[in-house]
Amino acid sequence: MDRIRIRGGNPIRGKIPIGGAKNAALPLMIACLLTDAPLRMTNVPELADIKTLIDLLVSHGVDVQVAPEPMANGCRTYTLRANTITSTTASYDLVRKMRASVLVLGPLLARFGQAKVSLPGGCAIGTRPVNLHLAGLRELGAEIEIEDGYILAKAPKGGLKGGTVRFPMISVGATEDLMMAAALTEADIVLENAACEPEIVDLAKLLSTMGASIEGAGSSRMVIRGRNQLMGANHSVVPDRIEAGTYAMAAAITGGSVELPGVGAELLGAVIEALVHAGVEVSLSREGVKVKADGRLRAVDVNTAPFPGFPTDMQAQMMALMATAEGTSIITETIFENRFMHVPELARMGADIAVKGNTAVVRGVKTLKGAPVMATDLRASVSLVLAGLHAQGETIVNRVYHLDRGYQALDQKLAACGADIERIAG
Ligand code: UD1
Repeated sequence: MDRIRIRGGNPIRGKIPIGGAKNAALPLMIACLLTDAPLRMTNVPELADIKTLIDLLVSHGVDVQVAPEPMANGCRTYTLRANTITSTTASYDLVRKMRASVLVLGPLLARFGQAKVSLPGGCAIGTRPVNLHLAGLRELGAEIEIEDGYILAKAPKGGLKGGTVRFPMISVGATEDLMMAAALTEADIVLENAACEPEIVDLAKLLSTMGASIEGAGSSRMVIRGRNQLMGANHSVVPDRIEAGTYAMAAAITGGSVELPGVGAELLGAVIEALVHAGVEVSLSREGVKVKADGRLRAVDVNTAPFPGFPTDMQAQMMALMATAEGTSIITETIFENRFMHVPELARMGADIAVKGNTAVVRGVKTLKGAPVMATDLRASVSLVLAGLHAQGETIVNRVYHLDRGYQALDQKLAACGADIERIAG
């Protein structure tokens, strides 16, 4: 299993290319199931999760072509064509590897009137049920049963119907699943208490290009009027705000400065706000966002919340930053019940963090110390990389496969900006 070795202390300085967002690319590519026409997707990051998704699409019979040449930022262009679907089953093996696989449910159901999709089960950060996906699809007339760990869904004769789905809580995945099903349903479907994340807006943009009419994407109420047939499209994946935010924090924790080309400030709102409060300089350049830090940061309190709130996917990185800031910071995780797996690992590096329920009290220390560490999920792992970039001495981050799920060429991008970091095969 590969590891990453970091010798901390070097400021991160330079321009870091940001890829397409993993969390946008997954649903966007799944949308190919809605049409028999080709979907051409550019700015797709090269990540383990994308490979898993391609295995899933191929298992349904989708023809997947990748352009031989990567784009300037290392991302890829894919052409996906779902004109001969051979299976409407998503197997346990593929869904348990990556929870976003469950998003094939809505599109398969809308297009073929049936789908069999494995229940994903829990994961390292929480129980993560899919009840909101199922309740929403039932509202559109689907009959859904659970059998042998699989969701068995059937559309009524004549297809899914119109209606209003009011989500009892905000879910990015359930909103996306329902948007895709609605796009291929010729009726008015209203989604209330919908997620507003930029990845939702990007999916709405694609579904509109494919022929659906969508109003209100990016607000909590969306009105979707689908078609019974959708067209192919060309689409470029929105930049990854979590990757960008992570590199902004790499600069902040090392007293460096980075420029993140192609990233608009609107993607990073709450993260920029927290960084500015902590004493980081953030400015807009012609190309994107610039981040500069000098000296020790100040503690700030952070609550995770659905967009436009502070993203749960940046909570672990923020905690690494606060572990070295001056003062005490209170970090509250409101989205996932078990997302503090990085705390004991940061503690091994000298961080002073006390967790009570969904709140972490972080008392900043002047310097962290390098140590061998490991984590059980993607963002927790990258928070350890950030801590390692700051720490005195050597940090070894084990289980690099978590990082490969969400960060393309992380070690190379950081090394190009002055980090003493290397990937050790084995
Ligand atoms: C997506 C992101 C993930 C991010 C999360 C929150 C992708 C591939 N993943 O995950 O990186 O951390 O949004 O921004 O885009 N819930 C239910 N029932 C459901 C669905 C969700 O109770 O049917 C709960 C979840 O357990 C969680 C909360 O709702 O507590 C939010 O989950 P959700 O927004 O659905 O997360 P994902 O879409 O899985």
